[in-house]
Amino acid sequence: MSGSTEELRRDFEQDLAQIENLDAWKRIRDRWLARESGIITGQMKRLRELPKEERPAFGQSMNLLREFVEDRLGTTRAVMEREALEKSRRHIDVTRPGFPYALGTLHPITRLRQEIELIFVSLGFTVFDLPEVEQDYYNFEALNMPKNHPARDAQDTFYFDENLLLRTHCSSVQVHAMQSMKPPIRAVSTGKVYRRDPFDATHSPMFHQVDVLVVDEGITMGDLKGMLEVFLKRVFHPDIRMRLRPGFFPFVEPGAEVDISCIFCFGAGCRICKESGWIEILGAGMVHPKVLRMSGVDDTRYSGFAWGMGIDRVAILKHGVDDIRLFFENDVRFLKQF
Ligand code: PHE
Repeated sequence: MSGSTEELRRDFEQDLAQIENLDAWKRIRDRWLARESGIITGQMKRLRELPKEERPAFGQSMNLLREFVEDRLGTTRAVMEREALEKSRRHIDVTRPGFPYALGTLHPITRLRQEIELIFVSLGFTVFDLPEVEQDYYNFEALNMPKNHPARDAQDTFYFDENLLLRTHCSSVQVHAMQSMKPPIRAVSTGKVYRRDPFDATHSPMFHQVDVLVVDEGITMGDLKGMLEVFLKRVFHPDIRMRLRPGFFPFVEPGAEVDISCIFCFGAGCRICKESGWIEILGAGMVHPKVLRMSGVDDTRYSGFAWGMGIDRVAILKHGVDDIRLFFENDVRFLKQF
């Protein structure tokens, strides 16, 4: 019997020597090890024809042969795979330029928001992250705009119900900050605001604002002007000039509209500033004593200033974009320019 095992082993080695690729390897493996039709199985089937006393020895030698075959086939396969890998490596052209791939970037408005917040962080402000779905109290009531106040009409509002709305401005930071901090207060908040406006080149029902609140003893209009100037020069250009005109907002007294000298014509007059040399950029003022009182701040001891500015408008001016919708349509061909 051992003679026939020896023969099989030689046959197998001959087969093995002829293997040149993985296909051939698979063929030989099946020839020897296939469960139904393989040579080893065929031999095992002969077991029953043998006299009883020869069966154990035969079975054992077949098992040894099977182990041998499996072991050698495994080694051959590993060699073959290594050769295939080396061959494919030889075909890598290391001088070939790489494939360009697109890196995502932050949205230009998000970047501007972060830049603005950083300016205030560097000035010692606390950043507030406030809800876009806001209570009437924070958006209007506590800012000296009780129900039926005519100033509410200027900010046509999306209401969920009587008390819940989409905030129309970020000035709610005044109320949140005064409720959660004791003076001295330096607070800033940026984010989305919503108004029932058309969606056209200069309007969007959703846009972004930054609002600021400072409350301390002895805060004056001079402090407001000084800090505004630092801020606007950092956001736009160190050479811009600024002017304050009287303006009305129910939560400040006195209130002001703030203009900067036109960043396109430097004040000479152009299409963007409608030949005036000035661009209206934000609303500001001294916090109304009523607003201080309503949020628990002693208005005989403390005073404060606040301002609010549209961030999208700044982006439009800085980048010379003529349609606000471009920022919200999310066409990457537009966005990736920033
Ligand atoms: N909230 C005002 C607006 O949205 C801007 C503003 C903020 C004015 C703070 C004065 C003080 O138009």
